[in-house]
Amino acid sequence: MRIAMIGGGYVGLVSATCFAEFGLNVNVVETNPDRLNALKKGKIPIYEPGLDILVNNNIKANRLKFFDKIEEAIPECEAIFIAVGTPPRNGDGHADMTYVHQAALQIATHLKQYAVIVTKSTVPVGTSRRIAQIIRQKNPDLEFDVASNPEFLREGDAIKDCMNPDRVIIGIEKDKEDQGKKAQDVMIRLYQPLFQRETPILFTNLESAELAKYASNCFLAMKLSYVNELADLCEQVGGNIEDITKGMGLDPRIGKYFLQPGPGFGGSCFPKDTLALIRIAQEAGSPVRMIEMAAQANDARKTSMSGRIIQLCEGNVNNKTIAILGLTFKPDTDDMRESSSLPIIHRLVEEGAIIKAFDPIGNDKAKPLLPRSVQYCNSIQDAATDADALVILTEWNEFRSLSTNNLKSWMKQPLVIDLRNIYNPRVMKDQGIQYHSVGRPQK
Ligand code: UDX
Repeated sequence: MRIAMIGGGYVGLVSATCFAEFGLNVNVVETNPDRLNALKKGKIPIYEPGLDILVNNNIKANRLKFFDKIEEAIPECEAIFIAVGTPPRNGDGHADMTYVHQAALQIATHLKQYAVIVTKSTVPVGTSRRIAQIIRQKNPDLEFDVASNPEFLREGDAIKDCMNPDRVIIGIEKDKEDQGKKAQDVMIRLYQPLFQRETPILFTNLESAELAKYASNCFLAMKLSYVNELADLCEQVGGNIEDITKGMGLDPRIGKYFLQPGPGFGGSCFPKDTLALIRIAQEAGSPVRMIEMAAQANDARKTSMSGRIIQLCEGNVNNKTIAILGLTFKPDTDDMRESSSLPIIHRLVEEGAIIKAFDPIGNDKAKPLLPRSVQYCNSIQDAATDADALVILTEWNEFRSLSTNNLKSWMKQPLVIDLRNIYNPRVMKDQGIQYHSVGRPQK
């Protein structure tokens, strides 16, 4: 079976590689020439554990190929996935659909055989029907179906999530009797290896599949804003957020995952998807007020976290050296999109702080996004030396086994502000560190 993937970005490249790994022939279309040339040579433009080796294995096996033109990639393909970017549109928070619509038009111009046109990008409700309309207008005689197949993979765990997902959701057009059978057959053959693994595969109508991605991400975002506010409350009234979330998580209706407080959620999905669902719902006259509040609480959190750092530095960071450990929005990725480190560091610099930052992977991607005065370090020691405070912003594993004796000898004063709760407050205190974490008593 041969398929095409339009877009060799994060979602497109990971999905294409996993389909190839399952034995399909996959033609990836990437229009950015630098990215395309790198990919053709097996060089991966993003950091994702395990992706490199899989891409190279599948290039060698001749199953994964890269093209710059849609017309060269789509002949003989039974399914054509659209996995191009849908960044927030300037100003209004809606997803920008320009690239999706362009891809649909080009497919309509060049497709010669029946194919299912599948949307993988996260798109507003109604996009699949809009794609069908664009194709029908351009090429009225073409036989095709549209489908929506949102991707739920997490950065850093993308290969695992893609090869072994919790669920696959596929929306197809089922307006009339018998409609969608052919598309369903193609999608079943495509996902055959997962059927054998007993992964739940859910067929829905187009709109449900399009909404399912937003619904899941926004629910998780809501969970995080809730737990972050609970953590603040704990600090005021003397609770311990760790015990509370452990207790909550034992209720299977709540579940134990995604209850870690932190400096606010970031990444390429949650901030963008919450905003997009809010806009979709407002326009439909059916507002999602809980999501509006969750998004607001998250924005406010990023501001309040910089305020907290300043306050713990005796209310003034002017000319103080602050070591920052972790810049990316989460560990195991080099992605800086919507990372809490951005507003936090900008604010600290505005207040006169000298920032020494270390991220195991993200330093280079962070540079263009942070003030020029930020100094980038190559190790924890480099960042912590002569620092007045050390702030943990991303929970990279290599920060977890910090030697407190080393810290005390490197830093001007042993003040650690841990916004990811990766250390034990009692141990830190016993070892002479002034330690502050999120939502937990200090000792
Ligand atoms: C998310 C969804 O999990 C994934 O299903 C979807 O397809 C894309 O969006 P991702 O953005 O890669 O994936 O990261 P995720 O692990 O979900 O974390 C998102 C943000 O929430 C990060 O900033 C992370 O630090 C934060 N987070 C996550 C917490 O603060 N606490 C938690 O318990 C979990």
